[in-house]
Amino acid sequence: MADSITKLCLVSVFLLFGLVLQGVAGESLTKQKLNSKILQEEIVKKVNQNPDAGWKAAINDRFSNATVAEFKRLLGVKQTPKKHFLGVPSVSHDRSLKLPKEFDARTAWPQCISIGKILDQGHCGSCWAFGAVESLSDRFCIQFGMNITLSVNDLLACCGFRCGDGCDGGYPIAAWQYFSYSGVVTEECDPYFDNTGCSHPGCEPAYPTPKCLRQCVSGNQLWTESKHYSVSTYTVKSNPQDIMAEIYKNGPVEVSFTVYEDFAHYKSGVYKHITGSNIGGHAVKLIGWGTTDQGEDYWLLANQWNRSWGDDGYFMIRRGTNECGIEDEPVAGLPSTKNVFKDDLLVASV
Ligand SMILES: *[C@@H]1O[C@H](CO)[C@@H](O)[C@H](O)[C@H]1NC(C)=O
Ligand SMILES: *[C@@H]1O[C@H](CO)[C@@H](O)[C@H](O)[C@H]1NC(C)=O
Ligand SMILES: *[C@@H]1O[C@H](CO)[C@@H](O)[C@H](O)[C@H]1NC(C)=O
Repeated sequence: MADSITKLCLVSVFLLFGLVLQGVAGESLTKQKLNSKILQEEIVKKVNQNPDAGWKAAINDRFSNATVAEFKRLLGVKQTPKKHFLGVPSVSHDRSLKLPKEFDARTAWPQCISIGKILDQGHCGSCWAFGAVESLSDRFCIQFGMNITLSVNDLLACCGFRCGDGCDGGYPIAAWQYFSYSGVVTEECDPYFDNTGCSHPGCEPAYPTPKCLRQCVSGNQLWTESKHYSVSTYTVKSNPQDIMAEIYKNGPVEVSFTVYEDFAHYKSGVYKHITGSNIGGHAVKLIGWGTTDQGEDYWLLANQWNRSWGDDGYFMIRRGTNECGIEDEPVAGLPSTKNVFKDDLLVASV
């Protein structure tokens, strides 16, 4: 009896702890926990047997051998220092704008192949850079009608401490600020996985932050000419209506949210947190929304954990209830014409 009361007390202490520590930063996990496998049959069972879960869990290949520590490393959103938001506008949209009940950026802009690409961040906590670079690439195509893939590596290697700590995590808003003052080269100029180091899924246990070389891998491309800029950096007001309007008008945005253990097991359906500890903060690309046949409103997102995780690399999460903080802090910017139409000008002047 006394024993079970002690246990109960312990459980409530842990629950309290969990609540206090909620938010972008993960809980402090024990060594034993960090060394255990992230994927657990018990979690799969617990989710799949819950009639109210709204989603299906599975042992996703992408993490079949990963420990909690390895998984945690991918969750690279650090608490952003307040000073980064100084002077950053918070954008809202006209309430009279009529929005569709369902929207998918891939079908809205089918000419932009980057929107439907699923990437892989490898073993580096670079999600903060992926969400930003992927959204900006899409926005270049949406605004200027050009297929382009911008470089995560440029941001990761060359933004430095302003963006955080490279593969050990960073700040989504700082990534967008970097696009304004420094620009970002193309993936072709500075690829994420090079042939000299390691390639996915190598680099166990961790992909180190790459060095900043400011040089295109191909000799006949110039770093400065490969730079693509943004003209603005902003957050979007933290409500579904403004977030939807922003995507509808300007394209995908970067969002951050808290990842719990059960999220590693996501396979399909509309995710909401059911079970497991808070592991860390993660950033992804938000590309659309809709409502299921069961009447559940959802957001549609592209992750960068390859296609062997989740629903072919994508996931849906409950919309309108700020699930796991997904609606807290969407960040974006608009692409600039600077440098972009340079080639045309050169051709014209020859
Ligand atoms: C996981 O580990 C097992 C045994 O070491 C190996 O056979 C398998 O290929 C690994 N799976 C992945 C996805 O790396
Ligand atoms: C996804 O994983 C496969 C298999 O490990 C790998 O060959 C491929 O390069 C990965 N995709 C990306 C975008 O890294
Ligand atoms: C992008 O590439 C695809 C496939 O090559 C092509 O169908 C599409 O028209 C291109 N989009 C633009 C905007 O050039």
